[in-house]
Amino acid sequence: MAEITWELLESQVEACSRCALCGGISHKVPGQGDRHSPLMIIGEGPGAEEDRQGLAFVGPAGQLLTRMLAAIELPRDRVYICNTVKCRPPGNRVPEPEERAACLMHLRMQTALLRPKVILLLGASAARTVLGEDTRITAVRGQWRQRRGTWIMPTYHPSALLRDPAKKRAAWHDLQMLRDKLIELDCYGDIYR
Ligand code: URA
Repeated sequence: MAEITWELLESQVEACSRCALCGGISHKVPGQGDRHSPLMIIGEGPGAEEDRQGLAFVGPAGQLLTRMLAAIELPRDRVYICNTVKCRPPGNRVPEPEERAACLMHLRMQTALLRPKVILLLGASAARTVLGEDTRITAVRGQWRQRRGTWIMPTYHPSALLRDPAKKRAAWHDLQMLRDKLIELDCYGDIYR
């Protein structure tokens, strides 16, 4: 069996046609960032700008995410960012559970390669993919759980914060919990350099 590498992951994403989403895209968006980061951030799926550039979180939601990370002194290039699906759903619709399931092998490979200490799940699609399909983001956000040594916390998606600024207070609380966890796990030196 071939050794798992980042290059293999990227070529598998590029060649993937496990669901119909790849039919209508300009670019695959595998994810990017620091491949040695203790922090992995998982969003939903690429939007229009991400599809154009082939990069995750570079549109309006991505700009807000960058500001949110900066607010806890996390430079964006020190974290690894990806999505539950690597192809843009048409019209930015929410990816179907079957589409997320078809893409899960890529996310699993990314997690195996990165072996993050902490995973931040942005929004319901990421929370359902990782924690189970019956997960409700409003019920689980801001709560830590541990799986095979990795700390996982769901929070609101930045797009939800753009639509409903009243959620920002809760998101700020979650971000502070994220910073505290990274400090508690002594990742401070790895990230806040
Ligand atoms: N929303 C996401 O979930 N991911 C992106 O990459 C951009 C917007």
